[in-house]
Amino acid sequence: MSNKESWGTRVGLILAMAGNAVGLGNFLRFPVQAIQNGGGAFIIPYLVCFLLMGIPLLWIEWSIGRFGGNRGHHSTPFILDSLDKRSYWKYIGVFGIFTNLAIASYYCYIESWTMAYVYHSVAGTFNGLSQLQVADFFGKYVDIFKSTTGIPYEAVVFFVICLLLNTFILSRGLHGVEKAAKIGMPILIAFGAILAIRGLTLGTSGASPEHPTASAFDGLNFLWTPQFDSLINPKVWLAAAGQIFFTLSVGMGSIQCYASYLKTKDDVALNAVSAGFMNEFVEVVLGSSIVIPIAAGYLGLDWVKENAGFGMAFQTMPFLFEHWGPLLAAVAGVLWFGLLFFAGITSSLAMGTPWMGFMQDEYGWSREKGAWSFGTIVLLLGLPTVLFFNQGVFDEYDYWAGTVSLVVFALAETILFSWIFGMEKGWKEINAGADIRVPTIYRFIIKYITPALLLFVFLGSLFTPLGNDWAGGFSQLFAGNGWVLDNNSIVKQITNAGLREQIAAATDPTVISSLKDKLLYITGARILLLAVFIGIGVLVYKAKGNHSKIKTAI
Ligand code: PHE
Repeated sequence: MSNKESWGTRVGLILAMAGNAVGLGNFLRFPVQAIQNGGGAFIIPYLVCFLLMGIPLLWIEWSIGRFGGNRGHHSTPFILDSLDKRSYWKYIGVFGIFTNLAIASYYCYIESWTMAYVYHSVAGTFNGLSQLQVADFFGKYVDIFKSTTGIPYEAVVFFVICLLLNTFILSRGLHGVEKAAKIGMPILIAFGAILAIRGLTLGTSGASPEHPTASAFDGLNFLWTPQFDSLINPKVWLAAAGQIFFTLSVGMGSIQCYASYLKTKDDVALNAVSAGFMNEFVEVVLGSSIVIPIAAGYLGLDWVKENAGFGMAFQTMPFLFEHWGPLLAAVAGVLWFGLLFFAGITSSLAMGTPWMGFMQDEYGWSREKGAWSFGTIVLLLGLPTVLFFNQGVFDEYDYWAGTVSLVVFALAETILFSWIFGMEKGWKEINAGADIRVPTIYRFIIKYITPALLLFVFLGSLFTPLGNDWAGGFSQLFAGNGWVLDNNSIVKQITNAGLREQIAAATDPTVISSLKDKLLYITGARILLLAVFIGIGVLVYKAKGNHSKIKTAI
């Protein structure tokens, strides 16, 4: 992706941006979040967050991306720098490269599971397995050193293949990314639609003999019966905001990078909304019509509520498909895991572009070098998630990169855009070349509501009260008992308070030693992540002055 590259067609751009957003988050994360947060109780805050935070952030990121791109910058450190010259913005911009590398390191691992599962669906590995055996298959797959799933070190093998594929497409530049989206997105939607129709028509007829009262409709009703009392529960709001972030890929730096390849006159207002709505369609319509109703249809809603997690997609779906006979089970397996694969790869490609753009802009690297170095970093940073999946490395990456960083960065860029760059200029940027009239109310929303919401989300995650129980937290506070933090609050996470309590409470020496191991691996993971962050910071520092030299050389 050199400075001179740009998107081939408008359709290609929108599909690439939608492909960036539509990912594993839509099919794996959304249903789990919705279930854990009360189904219909989740949907309203979720949609409100989409309108008040998601859409504004899309407009902000698309327009600052185009703004920076037209000044020769394709990654957030120098895109932010082009908005305000105070040097700390460059370093805040480090988030926009860091987050992508760190997320890619565990995201590509899940992506590689989907490849393996396509293979095993076709190979008939799941035929005749009981639900427990399918779950067991997954357990063995991720337990690298004891894995007995067929291919030695299978999870590592598929992870490497997955990275090679990503690297190869990235080495073709923007053109490669656009082509992958043009092929991947329609397939994904077609596969998703077929499975969704099955999910919506399963009803009670397909219910398995072991769970005679199970009904797919229970799952759908749970999700779509609005519960207005949830509107006053900050826990649900935080979860909804987190999902909006992850699914739209906002606060990450990849949208800014994609948008930096737009031309000055290109529209951002309509394009951003189109890509955003496409993501919401896939998430809300397709994402909620597959796992939840199918699992509820065979195992009952209570089972789904108890088992919400990755498990549903990888430990259960192959078993559920078996109810349709061996041939259809294989077909459904290919549709489901194939759909996940396409959703995943069009997102992981997006995660590669900020790093590549940065090294090309600032250090004059070729796009091949950019792509291969991305593959290598993700391999090195990703291997610990593969090898020590059960020790919590994966979750640690997801927490710091996939949850905390996004909010911090989104808050910073929103303040920069609306208050420092200024809403006057900002509004002009959003409207420049626009093919729609952006409702004027959004000028107010972007300036006040979005930053206020982001601040609330940030403070809420920093100081989450005990048990995520806000009403209880406040009544304790007013009773003079202070604010008791939950172990999941960022403040407590930093010191690993929860894990330390578990260690202190444990009596069984083997449990204690495995918990202590976990603490060690988690600390290692943090050191790695911090090293990557600092490393990029150093590259940004050293890049000073490089840019003009490289530009003249091109
Ligand atoms: N939005 C993607 C998803 O829903 C994830 C993603 C993260 C994409 C970071 C790009 C960058 O799965």
